[in-house]
Amino acid sequence: MPLQLRPATEGDFLTLGRISKRAFPHASGLLFPTHLRQGTSSPTNISDDDDEVRWRAARMLSRWKLGSPAYVVVDVSGGSGDPSNKEEVVVGFAQWQEPGVKDPLKARGGAPHLLPATLDQDLIADLMERLPSEEKKAMEGYETADMYYLLMLAVDPSHQRRGVGKMLLRHGIDQATAEGKKVYLTATPEGKPLYLSHGMKQTGEFDLFGISNYVMVYDKECS
Ligand SMILES: CC(C)(COP(=O)(O)OP(=O)(O)OC[C@H]1O[C@@H](n2cnc3c(N)ncnc32)[C@H](O)[C@@H]1OP(=O)(O)O)[C@@H](O)C(=O)NCCC(=O)NCCS
Repeated sequence: MPLQLRPATEGDFLTLGRISKRAFPHASGLLFPTHLRQGTSSPTNISDDDDEVRWRAARMLSRWKLGSPAYVVVDVSGGSGDPSNKEEVVVGFAQWQEPGVKDPLKARGGAPHLLPATLDQDLIADLMERLPSEEKKAMEGYETADMYYLLMLAVDPSHQRRGVGKMLLRHGIDQATAEGKKVYLTATPEGKPLYLSHGMKQTGEFDLFGISNYVMVYDKECS
């Protein structure tokens, strides 16, 4: 089996930053608009480890350090010869917020020192305010503090439709179910078919940056 799931380690996070930037090109273009990048040392941001990659990596790493677990799927099919020499390539990841844990990155997208000048500060502030309030509305009647919450699921575009997202989601749902917990998340239009195929149901819908987002829940009793 060339794809394997394992817990993320600290050394993975820069790669996770690169994957999330590539997986969300629409949000990426809005959060890090060209006009804010003009006049910086890398106006075209062609470097893979630009402000956005480092900002995304730092956010996920600080959440991880404060108790939000992350899992990666690695492809170990590359290379040839001695199987013990095969290099693993991280192709996707999921990060979860466990029941009872509050998101440490509440207002304004994280601690001020993490906010690069090339990030649209008003937009991230708006996002950090709107997302929880829309989720709260959609999840009325649920004890969300006692549920698992999917912070992010992203698969490198060159490895999508190979079952990576399915592995990561199944793993999270199975873990939650084993603990008798429910799961909720906000889905992009791209993610929605995957969640529906795992028995999740929609509890709300809202527009964010011109795109529909769907609040969805996995509740054993409803599937
Ligand atoms: C959404 C995403 C995580 C799916 O990951 P993936 O590894 O490509 O998905 P899988 O290969 O595991 O597909 C699992 C199932 O989901 C469905 N699915 C996945 N992508 C789909 C698509 N683009 N259109 C329709 N169905 C899709 C299919 O039912 C698929 O089952 P199949 O094997 O019968 O085709 C991935 O496309 C991604 O990272 N997208 C960009 C970021 C994003 O939107 N993340 C979700 C945030 S909520």
